[in-house]
Amino acid sequence: MGTSQQNFRWIVGVSLASLLVLIASRRPLEGQNGSIDAPNGFDGQTNGAISQQDFVQARLTFEERDDIQKGLGPVYNAQSCVECHQNPITGGASQVSVLRAGHFDGTNFFDHPGGSLIQDRAIVAGLQEHVLAGNEVRAFRMSLSILGDGFIEAIDDRTIMDIARSQPANMRGDVVQVPILEAPGTTRVGRFGWKSQHASLLSFSADAYLNEIGITNRLLLLENSSNGNSVAAADRVPDRGPSGEDVDNDVDIFAQFMRATKAPSRDDNLARSADAQAGATLFNAVGCNTCHVTDITTAPAGRVINGGTFTVPPALGNKTIHAYSDFLLHDVGTGDGIVQNGGQSTRNKLRTPPLWGLRTRSRLMHDGFSVSPFDAITRHGGEAINVLRLFNTLRDDQKLALIAFLNSL
Ligand code: HEC
Ligand code: HEC
Repeated sequence: MGTSQQNFRWIVGVSLASLLVLIASRRPLEGQNGSIDAPNGFDGQTNGAISQQDFVQARLTFEERDDIQKGLGPVYNAQSCVECHQNPITGGASQVSVLRAGHFDGTNFFDHPGGSLIQDRAIVAGLQEHVLAGNEVRAFRMSLSILGDGFIEAIDDRTIMDIARSQPANMRGDVVQVPILEAPGTTRVGRFGWKSQHASLLSFSADAYLNEIGITNRLLLLENSSNGNSVAAADRVPDRGPSGEDVDNDVDIFAQFMRATKAPSRDDNLARSADAQAGATLFNAVGCNTCHVTDITTAPAGRVINGGTFTVPPALGNKTIHAYSDFLLHDVGTGDGIVQNGGQSTRNKLRTPPLWGLRTRSRLMHDGFSVSPFDAITRHGGEAINVLRLFNTLRDDQKLALIAFLNSL
């Protein structure tokens, strides 16, 4: 193809894109109030929210294997948090996926009996869960990284709502209000999980401890069923007292650990390459940053969040993060059909996944079915269709530059 034609397409593409970027950048600029970048690194060091000694202790709890005596199961997915959150250091993502299922009647989604999460293991054979007939909605979900999540938790609701408001109408993400388990009756803007189903790391810890490991805890005292049937006969550890099976309140330690992790760091050498730098510009020019937002600044230290139960510490306050997410739900044509906290309209929507740490993940998108950033990009449709069209107008070397940028994340 003649270069002049390519150049022409490129110019048309970029001017369209600049228009998009212009529209998208009407939101107030973040990071202007003397905020500094959040500390980052896959180095196993605390971000300063707690001491290094406490951080190492908390990490050991996150890595601890629970057995039947400690309350594992009866139905569960794994024995420790680190089994699924491990790569390249404790807290990162992994190739482990979980299975969800349910039924769609044409109007509403209904959870599979016993909840949409199908636990893949049980402490006795007879309690093994299976997807039952009539539950034709099935979805795999990849494990997510929790590194740097303390900064995400420290983002003001308002900041996320402002991002939604700044997005063009056909790409405007859904803000989901979700319950804070540790502050009953209160809600906050969801930001964690593929459906932004949680806003608090303590709430997520309680949810994961119960649903992934089968340990009841002070925030969730009711043991999971097996396909809706009681597991009481097999449950060797009784749920006594206000902490259930979690006698040491490990849920609080998990949250402490996650809040003290540093953000994922970039590959400095790749990031400095001319390709990756050009790619970063193209990423914004075609409008990827409308959803994969490049900079967000956390709330100031001292801000009380999570229904009055947590105060943003200096280590997490007023820090700029480059997570490449808006934490909002979008329909990019890949929806998994599952409804969680967001209500029926979010059935086929997913949270924009943060792209920080992308190079540490081998399987991409919620289902892990994309094995390269290029595969993932070409699956975008729906709300992202115009951005994808602009991406498709790029020359091959420009696409490669954009991929080089992604590979540096
Ligand atoms: C069997 C694998 C598995 C285990 C065990 C597991 N997780 Fe997860 N974790 C996942 C998956 C899968 C997701 C994405 C879930 C979703 O959105 O549906 C996730 C998501 C998360 C998130 C949200 C991260 C984000 O930034 O959005 C947090 C926080 C989390 N897990 C904490 C924990 C804690 C704490 C434990 C231990 C109590 C734990 N997980 C145990 C698989 C696991
Ligand atoms: C309308 C919002 C939107 C736009 C625009 C958008 N994305 Fe996404 N992106 C998403 C959502 C939502 C997902 C998750 C989809 C899924 O898991 O099925 C995603 C997933 C991804 C993933 C996989 C990440 C992972 O951890 O699995 C990559 C890579 C990615 N996008 C890159 C891009 C690039 C590059 C562009 C620009 C060409 C772009 N996206 C434009 C919303 C968007």
